[in-house]
Amino acid sequence: MHIIAAYSMQYEPFHRLIEYIMSITILGIESSCDDTSSAIIRDGLLLSNVIAGQAVHEAYGGVVPELASRAHQQNIVPVVSEAIRRAGIDKREIDAIAFTRGPGLMGSLLVGTSFAKGLATALNVPMLDVNHLQAHVLAHFIRQPDSEYNPPRYPFLCLLVSGGNSQIIKVSSYNKMEVIGQTIDDAAGEAFDKCAKVMGLPYPGGPVIDRLAKDGNPRAFTLSRPHIPGLDYSFSGLKTSFLYLLRDQLKNDADFIEKNKCDLCASLQSTIVAILMDKLYKAVKQTGIKEVAVAGGVSANSAVRAAFEEYASKYGWAIHLPRLSFTTDNAAMVAITGYYKYQDKDFCDMGKAPFARVEL
Ligand code: KG4
Repeated sequence: MHIIAAYSMQYEPFHRLIEYIMSITILGIESSCDDTSSAIIRDGLLLSNVIAGQAVHEAYGGVVPELASRAHQQNIVPVVSEAIRRAGIDKREIDAIAFTRGPGLMGSLLVGTSFAKGLATALNVPMLDVNHLQAHVLAHFIRQPDSEYNPPRYPFLCLLVSGGNSQIIKVSSYNKMEVIGQTIDDAAGEAFDKCAKVMGLPYPGGPVIDRLAKDGNPRAFTLSRPHIPGLDYSFSGLKTSFLYLLRDQLKNDADFIEKNKCDLCASLQSTIVAILMDKLYKAVKQTGIKEVAVAGGVSANSAVRAAFEEYASKYGWAIHLPRLSFTTDNAAMVAITGYYKYQDKDFCDMGKAPFARVEL
């Protein structure tokens, strides 16, 4: 025992040197929509994750692209500096810059991409272009100090539900993802946000509906459910039926929304969750894969999370719910994706432009 201690002490500087040489430090940048974020990941372990939101959109009931890119320009330098500071590292320890290349708002993406190029040039390190959707899925692989690490095992299914996407993805490895079902019109987050808007609730409506639904009856109102074949989703019919319900009821009672707000939220939320879980259940049956994860902004929803818990105990699914801080847009998920790409030397060149639309 004593000898081993002496041995390791003797060689400690050498071990630390090897560790330093072998370790991979990635700086991630996310700017696809209205959150400016930067994170540092070293060897898969999260050292910092800084997110600056943009309150400027609240007055407009949705994200205004031009205002979003201007806010990113203001935020990007302080956010990246803060991520480096909080990680307790020197910028010269960064091995590569991972940035969200798309999909997202072009003006917003341009800010993150251009900044990544400038910083990579200044530090003389390679760049890693990251698909935002792939990053949402890989958020499950972020390790945090002093937290249990229990990532999904491949292959697994991931329900990716955000403001722009509703997809069921079969994930075979970090870079092999197949979309087996997706929305043919609106995304689930969009349904939350647009229905919230017609009720006069602030943007983003998803979290507000989630909160109000807690005091409502999910069976108070019956809303239309789609009949789409296969594993695809549709939310536009639900949105229209919600709109018609309000229009008809408001004719008789101008205070209908105010009087029934919580019941409306609970009914809408439970319908969205039932639609999501119905197709996910079919996907599990079809693929035989019972390892099931959820990702994206809507995965923060308490009813979505409760439904996952329920299906896990009822059908024996091994479920994976992301930490709340990794559900909405963040750079930690970009950095972890970059970390895997770095190990495969999957770098990109300076000529890469952002893309507003792209598949997984
Ligand atoms: O992933 P995300 O931050 O951005 C992208 O769309 O990429 O997702 C934002 C979406 C918004 O539609 C927001 O209303 C929704 O996630 N969301 C929620 C909740 N938190 C965020 N929807 C329902 N319940 C929530 N608790």
